[in-house]
Amino acid sequence: MSVQSKIAPEGAKTSNKKVLAFVEEAKALFKPEAVVWCDGSHVEYQHLLKTLVDGGTAMWLNPEKRPNSILVRSDPLDVARVEDQTYICSKSKDDAGPTNNWFDPAEMKATLTKLYDGAMAGRTMYVVPYSMGPVGSPIAGIGVMVTDSAYAVANMHIMTRVGDKVLKALGDSEDFVRGMHTVGYPLSTPTTADVPWPCNKTKYISHFPETREIWSYGSGYGGNALLGKKCHALRIASVKARDEGWMAEHMLILKLTNPAGESKFMAAAFPSACGKTNLAMLMPTIPGWKAETIGDDICWMKFGADGRLYAINPETGFFGVAPGTSTESNFNAMETLYANCIYSNVALTDDGDVWWEQMSETPAHTVDWMRRSWTPASGRPAAHPNARFTAPAAQCPVIAKEWEDPKGVPIDAILFGGRRATVAPLVTEAMSWQHGTFLGSIMASEKTAAAAGKIGDLRRDPMAMLPFCGYHMGDYFAHWLKMGEKGGDKMPKIFYVNWFRKSPEGKFMWPGYAENSRVLKWIFERCDGNAKAVDTPIGKLPAEGSLDVSGLKVAPDTVKELTKVDVEGWKAELPLIKEHFATFGAKLPKGLKDELAALEQRLG
Ligand code: GTP
Ligand code: SPV
Ligand code: MN
Repeated sequence: MSVQSKIAPEGAKTSNKKVLAFVEEAKALFKPEAVVWCDGSHVEYQHLLKTLVDGGTAMWLNPEKRPNSILVRSDPLDVARVEDQTYICSKSKDDAGPTNNWFDPAEMKATLTKLYDGAMAGRTMYVVPYSMGPVGSPIAGIGVMVTDSAYAVANMHIMTRVGDKVLKALGDSEDFVRGMHTVGYPLSTPTTADVPWPCNKTKYISHFPETREIWSYGSGYGGNALLGKKCHALRIASVKARDEGWMAEHMLILKLTNPAGESKFMAAAFPSACGKTNLAMLMPTIPGWKAETIGDDICWMKFGADGRLYAINPETGFFGVAPGTSTESNFNAMETLYANCIYSNVALTDDGDVWWEQMSETPAHTVDWMRRSWTPASGRPAAHPNARFTAPAAQCPVIAKEWEDPKGVPIDAILFGGRRATVAPLVTEAMSWQHGTFLGSIMASEKTAAAAGKIGDLRRDPMAMLPFCGYHMGDYFAHWLKMGEKGGDKMPKIFYVNWFRKSPEGKFMWPGYAENSRVLKWIFERCDGNAKAVDTPIGKLPAEGSLDVSGLKVAPDTVKELTKVDVEGWKAELPLIKEHFATFGAKLPKGLKDELAALEQRLG
């Protein structure tokens, strides 16, 4: 790969001793050929794209179809987050808890130091100062990442705020997350040939929560490599949030406005590839209602002076699932993709555009994500199921005007939800913050392609944070309850939704997507006390007629089925919930035990 013009370490626009020392140490360890301090400029971004194209990692798409956009195909062994190789290296194993892979921090550093030694030979080490959240916002946080992947840097440019302004905002502060990333493919001798997608079959995505460090090795894809995203904004930030009394969550944020012009802000936690990007950009089907996007994946919330929870989207882009995205399913996402995007593992059409399953009419021929000739008769998908687009949030036609407000937006409702073919109704309102925390803690969802492993297996994924909580999940539940005690009646109302109920024939019973606006309307009106609900053993469900289904082509019996309690199903669920709770041992908060006992009693 062509190496960027050398910029001397003097390129550093900071005198922050901790930052300089961190970069010097990284340089001594990785032994790169050159070091580049990223300034975050447009010129730099364009140079990164050119570097990727010149080096064979990327290709330009047809500028008449997708201006200034590139297509990248990764190594088939590097296509998603690797949860089995993701580690929380807290000092004590107990702090990582039963849901994380734990490793002793000193041992992990010893292992990785060996792998890191000389790992950037023949490559450029980019230094990427970035801010998660508007620069200088009291809710935002700063990181400095070093990486040998121009692909990672280009993505960080879209996904975060990068460059000199961040170093300026950091000043002499030591409060930044240190991230080290290498693809683990040194060009050891001047004649070692590079490959289009360098990576290593050995992978470690390691987090050191106490020292706020991330050490990532061997993967160049998504959350493994864009350290600002899951590693920083969720795993490290969740620990910081616990320590400092705020929340770092795997949630979209949207603004919903009713015909009277009143707005509410909602945050929703769904597991990976379960509909956050889609809901964040939905176009309501009910006349007069308007939805706008604040964020589609991550939400940081802190208490404001008025005692309410205020949220920011720490990101500036969408790293969205491509397959299934179309003008019918997500018009606003398709509009966002008009230019200036990075496409990973999608198919290439014969006229130099991108394509993926369901995007549009199936073309007669494409080059698939593995660079093979593809026709509809090939019998395999043209795009990888976890193919993604990286798109600037500012290009979204329905981005809310508040999306970069440094003080954040006040959250009125929090939604939980996952893929459940059975049991969980379309929408349930929690009876209290504690009950809502309980509903979040028992969330279960069918596994998707966003992570390596078997697809479709049902797993418990509390608050959609199973792969992202940087500490003991029992302590995380306790933190939720503590936040509720602190916020009292100013806390958002909590709801549990499920767009994925299936009929015995295996068909989705609810049309989903834009029609989810009907559920959002009910939630909006519940927040104002205007829609009617009925108390049931599992929570409050829409009273008959309170869910707006006018004009919806769903049989009334199906709507009834979707909004009723499956008492037998829930009874059968109780032993599974108990088994799930048992994994947290003594750290399971009393409040959640109480909720389980109360549920059991109400079910009779
Ligand atoms: P991550 O980026 O991995 O965190 O995923 P996400 O939660 O943002 O998921 P996304 O919105 O990209 O949707 C993932 C998949 O779910 C896509 O294939 C969508 O087509 C599908 N999906 C989204 N919303 C709905 C819905 O309401 N109903 C149904 N049936 N499918 C949906
Ligand atoms: C997810 O898997 O939840 C994502 C994609 O948002 S990644 O950035 O790879 O984590
Ligand atoms: Mn996600």
